[in-house]
Amino acid sequence: MGVMPMDDPTKLRSYSWFNGREYYNFSRRANIRALGLSREAFHGKPVIGICNSFSELNNCNAHLRQVADAVKRGVWAAGGLPLEFPVISLGEQFMKPTTMLFRNLMAMDVEECIRANPVDGVVLLSGCDKTTPAMLMGAASADVPAMIVTGGPTLSGNYQGTPIGQGTDGRKIFDRYRMNQISAEELQEIEGCMVRSAGHCTVMGTASTMAIVAEALGMSLPGSAAIPAPDSRRLAVAELSGRRMVEMVREDLRPSRVLTREAFENAITVDMAVGGSTNAVVHLLAIAGRTPHPLVLDDFDTISRRTPFLVNVRPSGQHLMEDFFFAGGVPAVMRELLPLLHGGCLTVNGHSVEGNVAEAPCYNRDVIRAFDQPLFAEGGTVVLRGNLCPDGAVLKQTAASPHLCEHTGPAYVFESYQQMHDTIDSMDLPVDKDTVLVMKGCGPKGAPGFPEWGHIPMPKVLLQRGVDDCVRISDARMSGTSFGTVVLHVSPESDIGGPLAVVETGDRITLSVAGRALHLHIAEEEMRRRAGLLKPAVPHYTRGYGKLFLDHVTQAHLGCDFDFLRSE
Ligand code: FES
Repeated sequence: MGVMPMDDPTKLRSYSWFNGREYYNFSRRANIRALGLSREAFHGKPVIGICNSFSELNNCNAHLRQVADAVKRGVWAAGGLPLEFPVISLGEQFMKPTTMLFRNLMAMDVEECIRANPVDGVVLLSGCDKTTPAMLMGAASADVPAMIVTGGPTLSGNYQGTPIGQGTDGRKIFDRYRMNQISAEELQEIEGCMVRSAGHCTVMGTASTMAIVAEALGMSLPGSAAIPAPDSRRLAVAELSGRRMVEMVREDLRPSRVLTREAFENAITVDMAVGGSTNAVVHLLAIAGRTPHPLVLDDFDTISRRTPFLVNVRPSGQHLMEDFFFAGGVPAVMRELLPLLHGGCLTVNGHSVEGNVAEAPCYNRDVIRAFDQPLFAEGGTVVLRGNLCPDGAVLKQTAASPHLCEHTGPAYVFESYQQMHDTIDSMDLPVDKDTVLVMKGCGPKGAPGFPEWGHIPMPKVLLQRGVDDCVRISDARMSGTSFGTVVLHVSPESDIGGPLAVVETGDRITLSVAGRALHLHIAEEEMRRRAGLLKPAVPHYTRGYGKLFLDHVTQAHLGCDFDFLRSE
C-alpha cells in the first residue's frame, strides 16, 4: 500500500487547488460553490472525477448518464466528492471516415482532462469500440488512480423468435437482402428488432472484447464486463465502483500498479480464449505502449498457441453476450484459464486475479467451455508473417472457414475501397471460389484512419453460386462482429510502399494459418521492379488534426498510437 492521503488531506492531489492562502485557492473555492455545494461537501474530501463518454451521437454510450449517477451515489456514500466531466465520444455507427481516426484524440482528451483538473481519482465510463481503449490509454499515461466501468452489451436482438446480434447477423441479413431473398419491408422490420437498447454490440465484437480485456487487465471490478447495459446490476456495479474509487485514492492504487507485463499477458490470454476481436491486438499494443511494458505482435501468437478457445459467442460461436453473462461472464472464463494466468496480479478491487476468480461458478457449459473441453485447441487470433507482410498481419482463425485456412489462389486486386465498392456486385467480376481478394489503401495512413473495411463483402457472383467465403487480404481492420477467412492489418501498409502495394491481379498468394504464413509468389527482383514504379501517395490532410494524425500515427504492428504518446 502507498500513502493514505485521506488521513492527511494535504496529500490529496486536489489539495493544492482548493487550499492555501493564494487568490486562486480562494477563487476556486468560490467557484466550486457555484455547483450548489456546501463547504462541508468538498472540504478535505477526495475528488473523484467521472470521465463520461456519454453522447446521443453514440447510441452504445447513450445510457452513461444514468451510470454516472450511480457512480456518484457510491462516491458520496464513501465520503468523496464526485465531479462528472465529458470527453469526446466515438460512436462507431455514425462517425466518418472511421472512429479509429479519433481514438488517439480521445485518449489525449482523457489524459489531459485528468492531468489538468483537481481529481484525486477517476472512474472512466466507456462502451463503444474505441472508447474503452482510448480511456485506458489516457488513464495509463496520466497515472492517477483510475478504474473503468464499461457500459455493457445491449439486450439480445430477436426477429420472429430467432436471436440476432448486430454486426454478425446484420451482415448475414443484409447479404440476403442483396440477393433479393428478403424484402425491403422485412429489412425495415428487422431494423426495429436488432438493437433493443443502449449498450454496445451484443456479440464478441470489439466493444465486448475490450470490456473483457479491461476486466482481465484488472482495471474494472470482477464480473462487470458482461452485465447487459439496461440490467439493474450495471448500475449496482457502477455504485460499487464509485465507492471503491474512494478507497483506491486512499491506497494510492494507480494504473501503473495494475498494468504490469503479467497483466497484459493475462489480458491477451483471456482475449484468445473468448475469440476476441482482431482489433484487440491493435488496442492492447497501444495501451501497453503507454506503459513501461510494451507488447509486440509475437506476444499474441505465442499466447494464442497455448490458449484454448472456450467461449461460444458469435461471430466465432453461437450465443450472444447476454448468454455469456448468464453463464458466468469473465470470472468463469478466467477460472478455467487459471493454469495459464498470472494469478497474483493486483486488480482495482485490491485483490489478486486468483482471489477474484478461484471460486467463480459457470452456469452453462455450452457457452463457457471447460479448459479441457475447448471449442478449438488454440486461441482466436493468429499472427501471420511472410513477404506480403514483413511486419505482420492478423487473422481470426475461429471465425475463418477451415477449408480456406491452407489455401493458394490467384489474386484479384482492388486498388482502393472505392473501386471495390463500385464493382463488388458486378456479375462480370472475374472471380471464383479460389480467388484471393486483395484490397489496397486502407491502412492507418491510407484510408485514412485504418477503417473497418477489411471484411470485403462477398462478390454477388460468388454468393449466387453458393460460395459464402473466400480469402480476403487488406491493410484495413475488420469489425469484431465480422467473420470469414480475412487477413487484416497487413504491415507495412500499401500507402507507404508496403509489399501489398505491388500485388497484381493474377499473382498467386498462399495463406497458411497453421504455418502462420502469407506469401506472394513473385520473385524478389520483380517485387523490387514493381516497387520502383510506385508513385508516392497524396496525403489526405494538409492541416488540422488529420495532419497531426498522418504525421505521427504508427503502423498496425505498433498499435497505431501517435509516436509522441508512447511511453518514454
Ligand atoms: Fe458501438 Fe458496436 S457499434 S459497440
